[in-house]
Amino acid sequence: MFKDSFLAHLPLLLLSFCFSFAVTAQEPDIQKGKALYNANCAACHKLNKRAVGPALAGVSAKYDKEWLYSWIKNSTAMVKAGDAQAVAIYEEYNGSVMTAFPQLSNEDIDNILAYTDYTPPAAITTAMPAAVAQTENNLTNDLVLSVLLLVLAALVVMLFLVNKTLKQIATANGIEVIKKEKEKRTPLWKAYAQNPFLVFVTVVFLLLSSAYVGYSYLMQVGIDQGYMPIQPIHYSHKIHAGDNQIECKYCHSSARVSKHSGIPSLNVCMNCHMNIAEYNGEEDLEKGYTKEFYTNEIKKLYKAVGWDEQTQSYTGDTQPVKWVRIHNLPDFVYFNHAQHVSVAGVECQKCHGPVEEMEIMYQHAPLTMGWCINCHRETNVNVKDNEYYTKIHDELSKKYGVEKLTAAQMGGLECGKCHY
Ligand code: HEC
Ligand code: HEC
Ligand code: HEC
Ligand code: HEC
Ligand code: HEC
Ligand code: HEC
Repeated sequence: MFKDSFLAHLPLLLLSFCFSFAVTAQEPDIQKGKALYNANCAACHKLNKRAVGPALAGVSAKYDKEWLYSWIKNSTAMVKAGDAQAVAIYEEYNGSVMTAFPQLSNEDIDNILAYTDYTPPAAITTAMPAAVAQTENNLTNDLVLSVLLLVLAALVVMLFLVNKTLKQIATANGIEVIKKEKEKRTPLWKAYAQNPFLVFVTVVFLLLSSAYVGYSYLMQVGIDQGYMPIQPIHYSHKIHAGDNQIECKYCHSSARVSKHSGIPSLNVCMNCHMNIAEYNGEEDLEKGYTKEFYTNEIKKLYKAVGWDEQTQSYTGDTQPVKWVRIHNLPDFVYFNHAQHVSVAGVECQKCHGPVEEMEIMYQHAPLTMGWCINCHRETNVNVKDNEYYTKIHDELSKKYGVEKLTAAQMGGLECGKCHY
C-alpha cells in the first residue's frame, strides 16, 4: 500500500521539490544598503580602515541589533543617556560626534548592515562564462536532456501501471488471495524483470545516458574553449579595454607586426599605474569585486615591480608575474597574428570575442582546425586597397571568375600553409 501511495504522489513530490527552490526568504538588500551607505555613511566611515569613525565591516557582530538601530538613529542621545557601550566608543573617538539619522527605518539599517557585513568570496572560481562558451553545445545538450527526462517519466508511469495491474489480479483471485497477499504478491522488482518492455526501456535509458556522458567527455578533449585560469593579478580587460577604452595595441603592440601578440611587460603597466594607485570605478558586489578588492590588486602590481608608494621610487626588489597562458595552438600549427590583423584586417574580437566585456580573460574560440578552415572559406580577403595583392588579385579573380576572393581561394586551405 505504501508503494502505491508513494508512486501516486511522486509527481506532486517532484513539483513541490522544484517550488522549494523558487521560494526563498526575504533578505536584506545589499545593493540598497550600499547606496544608503555611500550616501550617508561613507563620508566618515570606511569598511576596513579607521577614518573619522571606526571601520564598519562586520560591526553587526559587535553590538546587538536594537543597540545599532538606536545608535544610528541618534547616537548623541545614547551617549547622554549614559549607555556604557555608547560612551566607550564616543570616548575612544575623542568625542567626535556622529550625525543622527532619524530618517532611516530599521529596514534601511538592516540593508546597510547587510552591506557592511558583506565579505566578498575570497577566490573567484573559474566558472565558465556559460553564456558564451556553451551556446554552441546548448541545443544538442538540451535535446538529449529532454529525451532522457521523457524516458524517465515513461518509466515512472510504467511502474505505476504495473503496480495497479498486480492489485487488480489480486482482487480478481478472490478473498483467499487477499488473505495471503503478503506472501503471494509478486515483488515489484520481479514483475519489473518479467516485463520485457520495461527492461527494454531501462536498457535504452542506460545506453542513452552513458552515450551522453561519453559524448560530452570526448567533445572536451583537446579543446579549451572557455578556459579561464585564475591569473596572479586580477587584471580586468573590461576595466581597461572597456570602461577606460585603452586600445588593445597599447599593450599587445606586437600583434600587428609579428607572429605573436605577446603579453605586455609590467613596465607598460607602470606608465599609468605610477599615478593610479587606487581603484575608484564601478564595483560588482555580487561577485565580490569591491573597490578594496581592485585596489589590493594594484598593490600586487606594485609589489611585483618593486614600487614603493611612499617614496614614489623603485626599490629594485622585483617578483616577476607569471601570467597563465590561455590561447595555445599545438606546435605543429603555424599561426601568424600580423597576417590576420594587419594584412587581412580581421578584428581581434572576431577571434577573441568581446574582450572589452571580459572581467576575466577566457578562450572564446575553439581554436580547432575546423574553426580556422571555416573562416577561411567564409572570409573575403580585402584585396582592393591592399598593396600585397594588387597583382595576385587580378590573376586569381580571373582564374575563379569572381570579383571577390575568399581566404580559401587564396590558398588558405592548403595543409602546408598551416602545418609545418
Ligand atoms: C559625521 C561623521 C559620521 C557619519 C556621517 C556617520 N558616522 Fe558613524 N560614527 C562616527 C564617529 C566619529 C563614530 C565613533 C563614535 C563617536 O565618536 O560618536 C561613529 C561610530 C559608529 C558606529 C559604532 C562603531 C563601532 O565600531 O563601535 C556605527 C555602527 C556607526 N557609526 C554607523 C554609522 C552608519 C550606519 C552611518 C550612516 C548611516 C554613520 N555611522 C554615519 C561618525 C560618523
Ligand atoms: C592595459 C593593458 C592591456 C590592454 C589595453 C589589453 N590587454 Fe589583453 N592582456 C593584458 C594582460 C596583462 C594579459 C594577461 C592576463 C590575462 O590573461 O588576463 C592579457 C591577455 C590577453 C589575451 C589572452 C592571452 C593568452 O594568454 O592567451 C588576449 C586574447 C587579449 N589579452 C586580447 C586583448 C584584446 C583583444 C584587447 C583589446 C580589446 C586587449 N587584450 C587589451 C593586457 C592588456
Ligand atoms: C593606459 C593606462 C593603463 C595601463 C597601461 C594599465 N592600466 Fe591598470 N588601470 C588603468 C585605469 C584607468 C584603471 C581604473 C582606475 C579607476 O577606475 O579608478 C586601472 C585599474 C587597474 C586595476 C584594478 C582593476 C582591475 O583591472 O583589476 C589593476 C589590478 C590594474 N589596473 C593592473 C594593471 C596591469 C597589471 C597593467 C599592465 C598589464 C595595467 N594595469 C596597465 C589604467 C592603466
Ligand atoms: C584570426 C584570429 C585572430 C585574430 C584576428 C587575433 N588573434 Fe590573438 N590569437 C589567435 C590565436 C589562434 C592565438 C593562439 C596562438 C598560438 O598559440 O600560437 C592567439 C593568441 C593571442 C595572444 C596570446 C599570446 C600569443 O601571441 O600567442 C594574445 C595576447 C592575443 N592573441 C591578442 C590579440 C590581439 C590584441 C588581437 C588584435 C590586435 C588579436 N589577438 C587578433 C587568433 C587571433
Ligand atoms: C576570422 C577569420 C579567420 C580565422 C578564425 C582564421 N583565419 Fe587565417 N586567414 C584569414 C584571412 C581573411 C586570411 C587571408 C589573409 C591574407 O590576406 O593573406 C587568412 C590567412 C591565413 C594564412 C595565410 C594563408 C596564405 O594564403 O598565405 C594562414 C597560414 C592562416 N590564415 C592560418 C590560420 C590558422 C592556423 C587559423 C586557426 C588557428 C586561422 N588562420 C584562423 C581569416 C581567418
Ligand atoms: C587554416 C589552417 C589549417 C589548414 C589549412 C589545415 N590545418 Fe590541420 N590543423 C589546424 C589546426 C589549428 C589544428 C589543431 C587543432 C586542435 O588543436 O584541435 C590542426 C590539426 C591537424 C591534425 C591533428 C589532428 C587534430 O584534429 O587535432 C591533423 C592530422 C591535420 N591538422 C591535418 C591537416 C591536413 C591533412 C590538412 C590539409 C588538407 C590540414 N590539416 C590543413 C589548422 C589547419
